[in-house]
Amino acid sequence: MKTAVFSAKAYDAESLDEAADGRHNFTYFDVHLTAATARLAEGFEAVCAFVNDTLDAEVLGQLKAGGTTLVALRATGFNNVDVAAVRATGMTVTRVPAYSPYAVAEHALTLMLSVNRHIPRAYQRVRDGNFSLAGLLGFDVHNKTVAVVGTGRIGAVMVRLLKGFGCEVLAYDVRHNPACEADGATYVDLPEIFGRADVISLHCPLMPETWHLINAESIASMKQGVVIINTSRGALVDTQAAIDGLKSGRIGALGLDVYEEEASLFFEDLSDTVIGDDTFSRLLTFPNVLITGHQAFFTREALAEIAATTISTLDAWDAGRPLPPEVVIVG
Ligand code: NAI
Repeated sequence: MKTAVFSAKAYDAESLDEAADGRHNFTYFDVHLTAATARLAEGFEAVCAFVNDTLDAEVLGQLKAGGTTLVALRATGFNNVDVAAVRATGMTVTRVPAYSPYAVAEHALTLMLSVNRHIPRAYQRVRDGNFSLAGLLGFDVHNKTVAVVGTGRIGAVMVRLLKGFGCEVLAYDVRHNPACEADGATYVDLPEIFGRADVISLHCPLMPETWHLINAESIASMKQGVVIINTSRGALVDTQAAIDGLKSGRIGALGLDVYEEEASLFFEDLSDTVIGDDTFSRLLTFPNVLITGHQAFFTREALAEIAATTISTLDAWDAGRPLPPEVVIVG
């Protein structure tokens, strides 16, 4: 089947080609899928898209007019998909419901530990022959109260990892996960999370109910010096409110793998250009902020699993077989 792959990097091509084993005809476009680029997909029955590709009514309409019937997201989150617009077109949109929850949870933990123990600053200092410890003071994670917001696949792994560190784990989710309770997490409501947690790690999807979950009001109700970790989706955090919280000291440290305006920044080498996003640039000035560019998913195991699920979706579509319900977002 002819498939146009958007936001495609060399590692995407490598993993998809290997999993496809010659069964599919991929054309790789390194640009994002937008209203301006959608015509590249003309004549392609399937489109494979990623987290910062746009799948709104305009783009979906263009894809449909060009003959596309299937959009296979190579991601779990689908906040970039206008679900009502997909329904209106009659197209099918799928995702990779799970690949490696370990990849993302381990990265969240890495951000938490690194920002707490100032690893990036320590690395730079030692390379510069500066062995002073001033400003590198951290805290024991053992016995701290850590909150996991969203206890699905990734959050559940995070709960287990944190229990291994000897933390008291608080959890919040609209649905309780019995596995997390069995692992020792205690479900409480959000105000209690905000009032008691030393660290808050976000693992819920971005949706209208969770947009700017971390905002000026919720930050004001948090413990002084709280550490916030976001590996889920950028817009769970109101960035300006987080900057104000960092300036006042209410937020003691911030670890981000995602940013609400990341689409124009992440996954590209912009080291030769001037970053025009002043909010992002302000975040980079804080010594207690650690940002990675949406790399939490980026492990060999996760890439292989994303490719395998995507190929099995394309195989089923090509053969006219029903798609597994867990991969179908709309269709
Ligand atoms: P999942 O679907 O297994 O779990 C999500 C959990 O969030 C569910 O338990 C659900 O009940 C809960 N939830 C729904 N609405 C909620 C609300 N209003 N408040 C609190 N919890 C709520 O998803 P999974 O695989 O654990 O992924 C979670 C998120 O991680 C994805 O939506 C995606 O945005 C993000 N992600 C980030 C990656 C990265 O590379 N940074 C890679 C993969 C996923």
